[in-house]
Amino acid sequence: MISLHHVSKTFATPDGPLRAVHNASLQIDAGDIYGIIGFSGAGKSTLLRTINLLERPDPNPAARIEVDGRDLLALAPAELLRARRSIGFVFQNFHLLNNRTVADNIAFPLEIAGVPKAARAARVAEVLEIVGLTDKIRAYPAKLSGGQRQRVAIARALANHPKVLLCDEPTSSVDPQMTSNLLAFLVQLNQRFGLTIVLVTHEMNAVNAVCNRVAVMEAGQVVEKFSLREPFHEPLSNLGKLLLRDRAVGATLLHDFTPNI
Ligand SMILES: Nc1ncnc2c1ncn2[C@@H]1O[C@H](COP(=O)(O)OP(=O)(O)OP(=O)(O)O)[C@@H](O)[C@H]1O
Ligand SMILES: [Mg+2]
Repeated sequence: MISLHHVSKTFATPDGPLRAVHNASLQIDAGDIYGIIGFSGAGKSTLLRTINLLERPDPNPAARIEVDGRDLLALAPAELLRARRSIGFVFQNFHLLNNRTVADNIAFPLEIAGVPKAARAARVAEVLEIVGLTDKIRAYPAKLSGGQRQRVAIARALANHPKVLLCDEPTSSVDPQMTSNLLAFLVQLNQRFGLTIVLVTHEMNAVNAVCNRVAVMEAGQVVEKFSLREPFHEPLSNLGKLLLRDRAVGATLLHDFTPNI
């Protein structure tokens, strides 16, 4: 579903070039909940953002970014805009428009995609139902809790019927109870709609609770990738070791609560 090859990203900074991602390759299958973990500054967000070209990789003839069978680096701007519609993005800090209601926030990507008004309203109602916030349709973001705002942001990301959902630390601005709730909700989306999810996080428990595969990043490089369904895998990296050590804790995370959605 997602295939990255030889992706690098260097930023120009006052102190000279900063290599945020170096020669990363990832293979993510349809239906995966794929974790990307690493310490702060490892390059997780930058790598995630290259998947929908929010961040363009360094020019390199060998670099490839394929999503759902399309080679994104080869697309003309109009085609790229269309391809991006099948890729939802959820940000750490929600990125909602505060002067728009919940309905109008969710309708925003549909407006940009040229969806007619009646169809927009119908889709807004549908995704609000999916995220369990139908009663908040006319509310403004300021009146919502962190967890509710993130669910509105997820609803917005779902509006255009994406096949892939890219999530950058989606639970780090919400409380622990809501973290479990949101993670369980992501699992539901994955199971109900076959949505492929890429989850960037530094929370090991979150990865253990929901991901089937994981990539570990250190200093811009993907240092290892493994399946969390493989009981005898022996990780090489320190983070990989930590992750498996805490596996039992992570597995309990979703059992501690009853989803209300
Ligand atoms: N737009 C930018 N301009 C310059 N440097 C950047 C930019 N974005 C990221 N960087 C740098 O690239 C490196 C990787 O950053 P990135 O945000 O991808 O890391 P991260 O793993 O997501 O970290 P965190 O866990 O703190 O979110 C860091 O050194 C960061 O300062
Ligand atoms: Mg980040």
